[in-house]
Amino acid sequence: MLSKEDNELITRVGPGTPMGEMYRRYWVPACLSSELPEPDCDPIRVRLLGESLVAFRATDGRIGLLPENCAHRGASLFFGRCEEGGLRCLYHGWKYDVEGNVLDTPCELPGSVVKDRVKHVAYPVQEHGDIAWAYMGPLEKMPAFPEFQWTTVPATNRTVKKVLEECNWLQSLEGAMDPPHPMVLHDGRDVMRYPDDQAHLRRQGSGLEVVDTRYGLCHIATRPSAQDPERSVAVTIHPFVAPFTSYITGPAIEFGGRGAITGGPQHWGVHLFVPADDHNNYYYEVRYHPAKAIEPDDEERFLVPGVDIDGTGRKIKRRLENDYLQDRDAMRAKRTFSGFDGKPHEDIAMIESMGPIYDRTKEHLGNSDVVTIALRRRLIKAVRDFLEGGDPPGLDPSIPYESLAGITIEVPAGAPWTDADADLADYLALDEPPKVAAGQR
Ligand code: FES
Ligand SMILES: [Fe+2]
Repeated sequence: MLSKEDNELITRVGPGTPMGEMYRRYWVPACLSSELPEPDCDPIRVRLLGESLVAFRATDGRIGLLPENCAHRGASLFFGRCEEGGLRCLYHGWKYDVEGNVLDTPCELPGSVVKDRVKHVAYPVQEHGDIAWAYMGPLEKMPAFPEFQWTTVPATNRTVKKVLEECNWLQSLEGAMDPPHPMVLHDGRDVMRYPDDQAHLRRQGSGLEVVDTRYGLCHIATRPSAQDPERSVAVTIHPFVAPFTSYITGPAIEFGGRGAITGGPQHWGVHLFVPADDHNNYYYEVRYHPAKAIEPDDEERFLVPGVDIDGTGRKIKRRLENDYLQDRDAMRAKRTFSGFDGKPHEDIAMIESMGPIYDRTKEHLGNSDVVTIALRRRLIKAVRDFLEGGDPPGLDPSIPYESLAGITIEVPAGAPWTDADADLADYLALDEPPKVAAGQR
């Protein structure tokens, strides 16, 4: 559990809050590039870190991100006209460029200088990996954009989706970094299929470890190898990049092969959980592969644009109000464990049902919650260090983001995974020596 103070410290992200100010030191996803498909297209509303903003793509293709309320007398710029290098407010016609300069004030009388005196707030925007990223912090602290591997692969080798999750961002992140729950929530058929005297046939549990890194942490699951359970252990390493990025799947690496890739899943996965405000966050689901185009797979049917989510990422089919269309008959007939159709909706039902901001003073953690505990401890430390004048984690340009991925490696039973590869520590930018927190499930 957390104290009320610590729960507030790491969940609240509005302007002036400790975590909110720390968030503003990173490049943060504001919207998908595809939401602003062409120059002078319709502007869109953006809710980000508790601020109501409007984004537009100007005639030269650059994206502007301004507070939604006009600097003149506050009408919404969302209703404005985007044309000829700027966004014009409908009310009295003030027109802004992407830097917030006032280009025109048609109602002003001769001699007015208000156009030259007023500048609207404008957050810098850069596009990388099909996402428009905003920087909302002090300009003198603006870091270079970290070139993640997934943002640099060709566009055909990547898909990005966005879903509005109606709960605090930390609930979503904790759910993505929660090794125990898939065995039940997503694979509950195992629990149903085998009676207790055949429990050994259920999926094997695994060891869990966590190491702190300069960018956040890695959580590591070890389980007997599927190919050779007597002699090998499969070690899966999931980096977490503070404050909102969780690496899910990635390549299989050869033991002792100095990072040589031997296989891995069809696509590699990264999840980002970006606070819209304290009670809502955007889940960006990224699939990518460095060497091949992404093929649609069965999972696609659960987050279909126009069917499951609208153009802004809002859920239109399965929602808390309709109990996510849970099918109790199918549960009774053991056709499904959860009654929810599809993994994303199973996750969303659990994290949204915890309430807008879960009160972590009420929980009871076990030894399978080691990653959750480590994640919170890491975030609390990061915010406290930041409050004392330190830099947030992960902004050091020497961190090798271009190689960071979730990886799996087969290690001889009994050998520590830290010995698995001479380059592993560099590859994952692990601190030396790794400080390991362990648990099990
Ligand atoms: S409120 Fe926008 S121009 Fe007056
Ligand atoms: Fe899940």
